[in-house]
Amino acid sequence: MAARAQQISAHLNWPKGMLQGQVAIITGSGQGIGAECARLFANEGAWVVVSDIDKDKSQQVADSINQSGGKATSVPGDILDDNYINSLVKKAAEFGNGKIHIIVNNAGFTWDGVIHKMTDKQWDTIIALHGTAPFKLIRAAAPYFRVKDGEPRSIVNISSTSGVHGNAGQANYALAKAGVVGLTKAIAKEWGPTFGVRANTVAFGHIQTRLTAAKEEGAFVTTPDGQKVALGIPQKQKDASASYADIPLRRPGSATEAASAVMAVCSPLFSYVSGQTLMVTGGRNM
Ligand SMILES: NC(=O)c1ccc[n+]([C@@H]2O[C@H](COP(=O)([O-])OP(=O)(O)OC[C@H]3O[C@@H](n4cnc5c(N)ncnc54)[C@H](O)[C@@H]3O)[C@@H](O)[C@H]2O)c1
Repeated sequence: MAARAQQISAHLNWPKGMLQGQVAIITGSGQGIGAECARLFANEGAWVVVSDIDKDKSQQVADSINQSGGKATSVPGDILDDNYINSLVKKAAEFGNGKIHIIVNNAGFTWDGVIHKMTDKQWDTIIALHGTAPFKLIRAAAPYFRVKDGEPRSIVNISSTSGVHGNAGQANYALAKAGVVGLTKAIAKEWGPTFGVRANTVAFGHIQTRLTAAKEEGAFVTTPDGQKVALGIPQKQKDASASYADIPLRRPGSATEAASAVMAVCSPLFSYVSGQTLMVTGGRNM
């Protein structure tokens, strides 16, 4: 039994880490699920590029990883800015001595509204943030993924039950989050052959972050032109679903649980899994 465990551990590069030496860009990793991904990836030996529009939070995550013996750098900026995307890839490759192995397209927020009241700006911003920006980052990083060096390469696009099943009040977000499912499959089919790149979607249900906290707590983001967008779910709506009756596990997930699934998908345990959508929902929407 011990010999078998040793064999498996050697194969997976344990205990050094399942992502030892792999360079990972994680967008939106200043807080929430992305920050947990950064921490878990670093624990498994990845060199983490912390990317977030919130400069201070981004730096804090990178500092805390470096202080606990991991390796991280903070490259803050707005993923909606094409110049930022190019500089993120450039800086990540410099940090990684010419290599990038993993991209987790996680940055985002919701800007809800019923269809007949949704503005073009609400629509365009959310499509750009959750659909176009992930594509542009992957395109910019293509030279680091279309390589034949025998090292693993993995892309994870973050989706949502709203993308897979739709959600009232989230037409913009549902379209974008459905879009990355197709984008993921296109990458898997284009870069799987020849380069061995794996691409998967991880779709979350109800995960406890500021996006699912009570709206009354007052979290907000500011759009590039200065408009404040309130985040969260109205307390009344939260109260109505407080029993989590539609979730077989009867509870929301934690950011650590959500990030653990992303980590698993990037790990060697998933080396033969590509083009899939993993639902991390506590069993909701089966
Ligand atoms: N929390 C949930 O229940 C849930 C459910 C389904 C999907 N998701 C998705 O998971 C991802 C992470 O969400 P979270 O719940 O951790 O939210 P969060 O608000 O805690 O973290 C998101 C991070 O993205 C950053 N960000 C937002 N816009 C950005 C931009 N333009 N450029 C760079 N960074 C930007 C924010 O600053 C923030 O740090 C998002 O894509 C979200 O849509 C979350």
